[in-house]
Amino acid sequence: MLSGGFFLCFCCLDCESLLHNKYVFAGVSIPFFHKDRLHNQEDYLLGCIKGKSFKKTCPKDYPTKHNPTNQNSNICPSYFRWIHEDLKPWKEKGITKDMLEKAKKTANFKLVIVKGKVYVEKYRKSIQTRDFFTLWGILQILRLYPGKLPDLELMFDCEDKPVVPLDKFHGPNAKPPPLFRYCSDQWSLDIVFPDWSFWGWAETNIKPWENTLKDIKEGNKKTNWKDRVPYAYWKGNPYVSPTRQNLLQCNVTLENDWNTLLYIQDWVQESNQGYKKSSLGDQCTHRYKIYIEGWAWSVSEKYILACDSMTLFVRSNYHDFFIRGMVPLQHYWPIRDNSKCTSLKFAVEWGNNHTHKAQEIGEAGSKFIQEDLDMNNVYNYMFHLLNEYAKLLMFKPTIPRGAVEFCPEKLLSCTNGNKRMFMEESMVKVPSDSNPCTIPPPYDPLSLQEFLERKANSTKQVEIWEDEYWQIKEGAIV
Ligand SMILES: *[C@@H]1O[C@H](CO)[C@@H](O)[C@H](O)[C@H]1NC(C)=O
Ligand SMILES: *[C@@H]1O[C@H](CO)[C@@H](O)[C@H](O)[C@H]1NC(C)=O
Ligand SMILES: *[C@@H]1O[C@H](CO)[C@@H](O)[C@H](O)[C@H]1NC(C)=O
Repeated sequence: MLSGGFFLCFCCLDCESLLHNKYVFAGVSIPFFHKDRLHNQEDYLLGCIKGKSFKKTCPKDYPTKHNPTNQNSNICPSYFRWIHEDLKPWKEKGITKDMLEKAKKTANFKLVIVKGKVYVEKYRKSIQTRDFFTLWGILQILRLYPGKLPDLELMFDCEDKPVVPLDKFHGPNAKPPPLFRYCSDQWSLDIVFPDWSFWGWAETNIKPWENTLKDIKEGNKKTNWKDRVPYAYWKGNPYVSPTRQNLLQCNVTLENDWNTLLYIQDWVQESNQGYKKSSLGDQCTHRYKIYIEGWAWSVSEKYILACDSMTLFVRSNYHDFFIRGMVPLQHYWPIRDNSKCTSLKFAVEWGNNHTHKAQEIGEAGSKFIQEDLDMNNVYNYMFHLLNEYAKLLMFKPTIPRGAVEFCPEKLLSCTNGNKRMFMEESMVKVPSDSNPCTIPPPYDPLSLQEFLERKANSTKQVEIWEDEYWQIKEGAIV
């Protein structure tokens, strides 16, 4: 859900009141910017390309070899198998220069890696500092695994919604443009990549993932599961999408107790109060936490799932890179999107009747996030995705004329404030002492189908329980 703010802003400029003077990105609202201010907002990446700091040169003595002492290598988490699925459209015929150039249509920048050095050709301004932090993240893999990334060229689009429709590019002669972005859906071929928030979301003061995760783990210790409020909890900006506005109906009232507590995030107020109330480590106080997408996927997903509370996952359209590996009833509880209140009420009541089970699901979801999605695995995912992608290129990557070489030193030298703080905090300090984990093989079509069927079955099972519950309840009323 993240997102989308950009569109939102333009179409909603005259309905400011609807937005409560806030902009929402990725499901989190940030103070509303006037259109002019938006355009005048500093473009960090361009500033870095054109600014004074451009004079800052990248060091020549970067390590180019990686010789870890630990030669063992584990198998990566199973969601890494989706890397093969995402790249499948190019598996047979590869990626030509022409296909890559077609992806330029919406891309914010082209990234080129040649001999371990990173070059960027910038095409258009991104929302906030998304492009800047994404580039920062990519530079960190080169520090973690020096000399290991192959030469490549790729197009990156920092907007929210996928734009490469599957139905336009299928069949044996299809030449889909390979385009990287933060989320996709089942009707699109966009290639999913970790979003910027793993290195911090400066505009909402959300710290880099590694430390946020530590805060949440600490927060989890503060309240035992059983002592948590036995309600479903959600806090966010409802004005990014109709489905979130629809959720608001489920809040507890004197007439209807849907077992659900909903709160509207007010970033203006929180920003004025120094974000004291939005600390993510302090938000693990309820037994059940609701995840609901917004304009597209939501950055909030990993924070919600990490809480040890059972996540009530409202059926969603968009996926980021890790959620496809998670399974309903194992890692989260599925919630209908077309009858949210009845679904939520049942889920909470079920959980309060089966506390051990509910706690187990909550903890399994959090374990997935804390282990399979720790920063090391985020880097591993990026590494393997880029590596597999590079194998498909049918041309020799070359440094584009006019492209600018980037290194962490250069990016650091053109930032200040919490941006700089987050970058220093999330910088990879030393190369990894082991090799990247080993990527699991692709799913064979049968086992993929089985996996998807198992997920669908679990969801179906919950819906059957739910229907039975409501039938009996309604029968009793009559
Ligand atoms: C939902 O209900 C709670 C408890 O009555 C209240 O504090 C909260 O403001 C309500 N949320 C919304 C969005 O109205
Ligand atoms: C929870 O337990 C109560 C009391 O046994 C029962 O009436 C209710 O139907 C149960 N609800 C669910 C969802 O399991
Ligand atoms: C899903 O449910 C159907 C019908 O109940 C069953 O035949 C099938 O074996 C299940 N599939 C999996 C993978 O569990």
